[in-house]
Amino acid sequence: MKIISSPLELKDYLKNNIKTIGFVPTMGALHKGHISLIEKAKAQNELVVVSIFLNPTQFLKGEDLDTYPKKDEADKKICELSGVDVLFFPHAKDMYGDDEVSLLAPKVRGFVLEGTSRPGHFNGVLTVVMKLLNIVNPTRAYFGKKDAQQLNLIELMVKQLFMSVEIIAVDTLRESDGLALSSRNAYLNEAQRKEALKISASLHLASKMVSQKIYDSPTITAKMRESLFPLEIAYVEILNREFEPIRHVEIGKSIILVEAKVGDTRLLDNIWL
Ligand code: PAF
Repeated sequence: MKIISSPLELKDYLKNNIKTIGFVPTMGALHKGHISLIEKAKAQNELVVVSIFLNPTQFLKGEDLDTYPKKDEADKKICELSGVDVLFFPHAKDMYGDDEVSLLAPKVRGFVLEGTSRPGHFNGVLTVVMKLLNIVNPTRAYFGKKDAQQLNLIELMVKQLFMSVEIIAVDTLRESDGLALSSRNAYLNEAQRKEALKISASLHLASKMVSQKIYDSPTITAKMRESLFPLEIAYVEILNREFEPIRHVEIGKSIILVEAKVGDTRLLDNIWL
């Protein structure tokens, strides 16, 4: 596995490449969810590039940038064992200068849900993803469905800016008890981890209601909110795949999303119905 930290060196390395490239952007602290993205990229492409970059511009003041789990050596090993061809490991100074051009998330879809609790967060995400895609120039890029709003905005950016990369959405991986895999699960103590199970359980409850032909969004979200008590809920929403609120769940066209705080940790989860 080749490890490169300079964006220009990576561009140069890939310059004459004629193979299909699958790209998996990450912020490190890799877990089985990331490995499933890498495996999908390997199955669909001839060359796989993974980036590990803790992007400062997507963290708001007072968020967990400084305490975000960092596991550089373990991450390198995971990439190597997963058959990654190139690991891109830049420093912030390689990615950003002082007077920066940046992208703005759309005014509506970028400022609902997670965009409400983290205003500006998606500006940072879109800017860094655009930079990374321009450096790697992949055939396909892989993102988890767990960060559904991020995925939706990246798809929108690719479409609206006429970019040629194909965005591949990959299903959320879960622990055997239902907890969605996330690097931030590392913040949870034993009692909080138990509390966190309320989030996936609320989604399970929603999907059970839908299977009993209860499609009314307010009825479903009210039951979910009850089941999440006493967690601090940021949102419980039922949206269509264009990320617009819907009054009734339509199978094959809906996403149910939750963000709630367990201790100081914000956790996201969702199901696609
Ligand atoms: O989902 C993530 O890990 C990050 O938001 C991403 C897409 C790598 C951009 O920093």
